[in-house]
Amino acid sequence: MIAPSILSADFARLSEEMAAVGGPGQGADWLHVDVMDAHFVPNLTLGLPVVESLLRSTGTPLDCHLMIDDPDRWAPGYAEAGAHNVTVHVEAAEDPVSLAKNLHAAGSNAGLSIKPNTPLDPYVELLRHYDTLLIMSVEPGFGGQKFITDVLDKVRSARRMVDTGHLNLLVEIDGGINNDTIEQAAEAGVDCFVAGSAVYGAEDPAGAVERLRSQAVA
Ligand code: DX5
Ligand code: ZN
Repeated sequence: MIAPSILSADFARLSEEMAAVGGPGQGADWLHVDVMDAHFVPNLTLGLPVVESLLRSTGTPLDCHLMIDDPDRWAPGYAEAGAHNVTVHVEAAEDPVSLAKNLHAAGSNAGLSIKPNTPLDPYVELLRHYDTLLIMSVEPGFGGQKFITDVLDKVRSARRMVDTGHLNLLVEIDGGINNDTIEQAAEAGVDCFVAGSAVYGAEDPAGAVERLRSQAVA
């Protein structure tokens, strides 16, 4: 699956920018929405009121990636609003098990994200409560950064745990995915690829989505 990140889109034209990458079956599978609070990460983007508007203007499932402090308090609101996935950071969540349950009760899938330098092993048991594992392949905060190849070890180990039946979740990768890096991520076992600058920096964003998809399955 391909999830274009609207972080690299024109924020004054978000409706058109979302439409420009198509929807399930003929383009983007999900739209990735980066929520940043200038505390958990050194950047500020958008919050719940904007996500509510985005939900009204697209039928494509929204994959909300919350790079915020205190997700235990704020994340369920995104689920109640109608987001398809709500992903929180393991480094920020106070009680990730209760949080996943609250997200499910509020109607969304639950995602857990880990930063590049955060090890996966201590959190494996938590992942039983989650639907998606979002492995960051850049330091969260900004688009257009260089892919950190070392995180592929975490992708491989998550893939093994899914394939052997120890876990049941989608493995998602976020950061530095482009035509040069997507193949190695696909080989390591990624199910869902987030791409911001590689899609919205291209002349033809819809074409960029299809090119990424074809390279992921090559
Ligand atoms: C970064 C965000 C990413 C970002 C990726 O903190 O979580 O979703 O949009 O951008 P690219 O694909 O340009 O690395
Ligand atoms: Zn993201």
